[in-house]
Amino acid sequence: MIIISPSVLSCDYAKMGSEVERMEAGGAQWIHYDVMDGHFVPNLTIGVEIVRALKKHQKGVADVHLMITDPLDYVEAFAKAGADVITFHVEADSDVEETIKAIRAAGAKPAIAIKPKTPAEVAIKYMDLVDMILVMTVEPGFGGQSFMYDCMPKVRAIRDEATRREKDLWIQVDGGINEETVVDSAAAGADVIVSGSTIFKAPDAGEMIHSLIAKGEAAYRG
Ligand code: DX5
Ligand code: ZN
Repeated sequence: MIIISPSVLSCDYAKMGSEVERMEAGGAQWIHYDVMDGHFVPNLTIGVEIVRALKKHQKGVADVHLMITDPLDYVEAFAKAGADVITFHVEADSDVEETIKAIRAAGAKPAIAIKPKTPAEVAIKYMDLVDMILVMTVEPGFGGQSFMYDCMPKVRAIRDEATRREKDLWIQVDGGINEETVVDSAAAGADVIVSGSTIFKAPDAGEMIHSLIAKGEAAYRG
């Protein structure tokens, strides 16, 4: 099943609560929260209190993507704020296994992310410990960038390895997703699709969400 996780990074910040509701009314199953610390990435965005406030406007899954240098220091706070899935970068400073364990202990589903230049093997090493692997399809930091097609072989390699291990694994893609690149992503084996500017800037967000789901479902190859 294809899951769409609209990234609130591209929403109207003056009305975030109703933006989240608009996404769920349009058929989005998850909402993606991009947490940036101005250190791991050159941008500052939302923190724990925003997630806590917006989770109250949500019925579905709060998908928190930590782009911060010390994720281990914050996972408990995000879990308490209502994060259902917590993703952190293997390139960050925290110990990867320790952070995965801390996320699970806090009651959330752990996921790891890899930047475009990080090889798939680095994520595959931890596959058995996580519920999801996020393959970034842009350099993390900003919305509205172009999709990097050369990340698709990594998605395929991770999906093939998960299939070989009979491991139930979500593979998420994030960055530059539109009605064309969702097809490449799903064909490579991704099933959780993050999309910011494409959905929030669409004239009808619900139509766009349904189109992304339909195109993803048709193209998906597990
Ligand atoms: C980038 C963020 C993405 C971003 C995607 O660092 O992780 O979630 O919002 O935005 P679009 O879909 O506009 O590329
Ligand atoms: Zn993200």
